[in-house]
Amino acid sequence: MSEDIAQDSSGFATRARIDTTKPHSARFWNYFVGGKDHYEVDREIGDQIKGIFPGLVDVAHTSRRFLGRAVRYLAGEQGIRQFLDVGTGLPTADNTHEVAQRVAPDSRIVYVDNDPIVLTHANALLTSTPEGRTAYLDADLYDPEAVLRAAAGTLDLSRPVALMILNTLGHVSDYGQARDLVRRLMAGLPPGSHLVVSDSTATSEGMIAASEAYNSSGAVPYHVRGVEEITGFFDGLELVEPGVVRVPEWRPDGDGSGAAAVDAYCGVGRKP
Ligand SMILES: C[S@@+](CC[C@H](N)C(=O)[O-])C[C@H]1O[C@@H](n2cnc3c(N)ncnc32)[C@H](O)[C@@H]1O
Repeated sequence: MSEDIAQDSSGFATRARIDTTKPHSARFWNYFVGGKDHYEVDREIGDQIKGIFPGLVDVAHTSRRFLGRAVRYLAGEQGIRQFLDVGTGLPTADNTHEVAQRVAPDSRIVYVDNDPIVLTHANALLTSTPEGRTAYLDADLYDPEAVLRAAAGTLDLSRPVALMILNTLGHVSDYGQARDLVRRLMAGLPPGSHLVVSDSTATSEGMIAASEAYNSSGAVPYHVRGVEEITGFFDGLELVEPGVVRVPEWRPDGDGSGAAAVDAYCGVGRKP
């Protein structure tokens, strides 16, 4: 274990406990997206999984590009100015606020994660334009009402919000519970709000083997689901075209994603 001093979202110094004895999702994923914030234990399982299933590297990169396209669509075409990004992960290139504020500088973004290492890097997520606002919440997806209450300090929850949950719902092993958490978060947002979800899927033997290797590493397990289950997160919402599709196929805009058959699906739904 090591301890780092960081600032929480209100600027207070925080002592964050970083566990370097087992892999962590945020650091593991940062290794896959080509970041620099990971430990030996994350790289070891990362390299093992790259050997089993190199396709996970494409999943990581194409998912980040999907984030960019979804945010550009929502800010540019739907007029969304508020984003709630749950399971943020470690900062990397083109974080949600950077993409949104390039389109609309007055955008407000609240990031939510419960990993202490993400908290230690939160300052990189708080570089807002003067017209907009960003905040970081050290909070838990398993307590949606608390997330909403805290987010209301930055977002106006009487106006539409885009709830983004990318590559995170697999941490909730029970599918019914995962759906319930999404439902409760969306219940606190007004009509015109959107849900953005992407996740790895059990659509190849390689992905299933990679998930088994990750889950036996000591990390908090990650459950890869079927495409119908990803689609189920959008029940009660109006799915934006083209619906739930492989990540590179969602409204490609020449960002270099190509048409790789990656084992990850995504969608965007609008609350009527
Ligand atoms: C695989 S990373 C995805 C990061 C980012 N959304 C992306 O797609 O690049 C999953 C993130 O979810 C966070 N996470 C896992 N369980 C959580 C929980 N119960 N509450 C909040 N965040 C959680 C992890 O700390 C990690 O940062």
